[in-house]
Amino acid sequence: MDSKTKIAVFVSGGGTNLQALIDAEKAGKITSGEIVLVVSDKEDAYALERAKNNGIKTAVITKKKGEQEDFENRLLAVLAENGIQMIILAGFMCILSAAFTSKWPKRIINIHPSLIPSFCGKGCYGLHVHEKALAYGVKVTGATVHFVNEIPDGGEIIFQKAVEIEDGDTPEILQRRVMEQAEWILLPRAAEKVAKEIAEKGDNYGHL
Ligand code: GRF
Repeated sequence: MDSKTKIAVFVSGGGTNLQALIDAEKAGKITSGEIVLVVSDKEDAYALERAKNNGIKTAVITKKKGEQEDFENRLLAVLAENGIQMIILAGFMCILSAAFTSKWPKRIINIHPSLIPSFCGKGCYGLHVHEKALAYGVKVTGATVHFVNEIPDGGEIIFQKAVEIEDGDTPEILQRRVMEQAEWILLPRAAEKVAKEIAEKGDNYGHL
């Protein structure tokens, strides 16, 4: 392997999944990739503090109402400036267009807090996912890491892990259990897998 895959993590909120990635890299569980940039569309995302506390460069790129192409061009510019080769969406609340995702085939991964194809797609994010799972009455939910293409939550699945629903669960309790038992384990594992594949191929989609 020549060198580590340069990773950007896109965030919008608290960043517990970002923290899991940082911890995994520190613990030597991610060795094929290196998180070199954290990008947030929200200035006040706590995830930015997590990045700064760990000496990782940050960029804030806000999205104006109705804007897409200019927003994505600003994202592409910051990725190119930093030589990024792989993107991890870790609680990033903006949908990326086909114009963007087609430039990064099998180079963007996302974590979704359900077993896709259940409880996913446009509008199904955050606590809503767990509310829907509880309302439906499923007994098992979980998390999915998948490649990102032009269809929200529609790209090829990389890993999934099931989590049991328990009597008395609220959306908040279930959200926490899915994070602890699935998301924080699966996302670093998928990051290593994909970073390794990119490093071994040695190609350079990050500079399109
Ligand atoms: C997670 O539940 C993740 O699955 C979803 O957004 C949430 C982000 O949480 N895509 P955090 O910011 O990583 O704490």
